[in-house]
Amino acid sequence: MAIEWSKALECGDVEIDNAKKQLVDIINVIMRVSTDKQHITFNKILVAGLSKSLGRLFFKEERLMQRHGYRDAREHGIQHRDILDAIDDYAGGETGIILQTRSPTITIIIGSLISHIESMDRPFAQFIQSRRKSYQSP
Ligand SMILES: [Fe+2]
Repeated sequence: MAIEWSKALECGDVEIDNAKKQLVDIINVIMRVSTDKQHITFNKILVAGLSKSLGRLFFKEERLMQRHGYRDAREHGIQHRDILDAIDDYAGGETGIILQTRSPTITIIIGSLISHIESMDRPFAQFIQSRRKSYQSP
């Protein structure tokens, strides 16, 4: 399972787009190494770092949604909280039990992130793109 970056995921806000692009890279690295036991520590660092950068990214996204009166902002925000909660549970869980690279938890977290990007961020990016276009047209 991997996710590919595409123009369709860009909302036009450089900060959000760059952060999202980085997120996609991190997801793909985690997906690649998550079955390799030698990378347990590396994996832990990546996942711990995710929480911080995701918090910032989600905040910026939600601010942009509010600014543009995005219809699904509430539902989208709830999904952000659920993902952050899942990551915090994972990162704060019992080391050695939960932080097993083969644990389904990491797969579930990464799966929910991929699903979020595909099902919620993609339509949001399209909405913002069309908004920007309508501002630009005469
Ligand atoms: Fe989002």
